[in-house]
Amino acid sequence: MKITVVGAGAVGASCAEYIAIKDFASEVVLVDIKEGYAEGKAMDLMQTATLNGFDTTITGTTGDYSKTKDSQVAVITSGIPRKPGMTREELIGINAGIVKDVASQLVKHSPDVTIIVVSNPMDTMTYLAHKELNLPKNRIIGMGGALDSARFKYRLSEALECPASDVDGMVIGGHSDTGMLPLTRLATRNSVRVTEFLSKERLSQVSEDTKVGGATLTKLLGTSAWYAPGAAVSSLVQSIACDQKKMFPCSTLLEGEYGLNDLCIGVPVIIGKNGIEKIVEIDLNDEEKAKLKESAEAVRKTNGLLE
Ligand code: 2OP
Repeated sequence: MKITVVGAGAVGASCAEYIAIKDFASEVVLVDIKEGYAEGKAMDLMQTATLNGFDTTITGTTGDYSKTKDSQVAVITSGIPRKPGMTREELIGINAGIVKDVASQLVKHSPDVTIIVVSNPMDTMTYLAHKELNLPKNRIIGMGGALDSARFKYRLSEALECPASDVDGMVIGGHSDTGMLPLTRLATRNSVRVTEFLSKERLSQVSEDTKVGGATLTKLLGTSAWYAPGAAVSSLVQSIACDQKKMFPCSTLLEGEYGLNDLCIGVPVIIGKNGIEKIVEIDLNDEEKAKLKESAEAVRKTNGLLE
């Protein structure tokens, strides 16, 4: 099982590290355009193999995509990250060109690859990859919701004063500060709805903190986050590589599901060896439906900037 991660920056390197530590892949190839950078990150990570007890081989290359040949899964993290005060949407100009180029290089060397898009604005970059590559729609996945849901569960566990492993919940909608839709109504602590434990006001605070999860970290770190994004991607890669058929909210091309068409946005999907194996349509109430529609309109507006 060969996996390529394009972009050896913080998100790409964390992703490679988590994949290696989980030890389900034979090989991870890191690609970067900065001379020697991917090779350096790969070597540094390989020197943790005996310490962290993994057998995955990590190699790096400066832009030689022939080294990525026959990858089963490829992750695109390349592009510029946001700086404090920036929205993800502001990155579109530079990142669209990069994602287009990277995506076609990947498919040229691995025609059967499944691609996970991380670069921002993520829903629009996922849509761009669909338009550019014309691959079967199950083989292009946008990562956002898996990360946003992890942040949601963290915020819920904080509010509930319980371990995060006690909590279950999901964020759908666009991967943006205003477009995310944390499903507080359906979130649970050990099967009991969190609405039983937390007031409407506290839940609304959890929701708001979740939506600006990335921006909060960008402000603290001076650049965008990497541990949770890397871990979220590695979970998606593992679900494909090990055919786990786990359910995550991911950005997927919708063709009528949830009443939406011709855009990529976060909804629950089953991830297995064929990439997105099923789009799961859950019953949303009227308020949630309206919010998802509003989020979709914002994503469509950003998609419009691609032309
Ligand atoms: C974030 O929210 C990288 O978009 C990513 O941290």
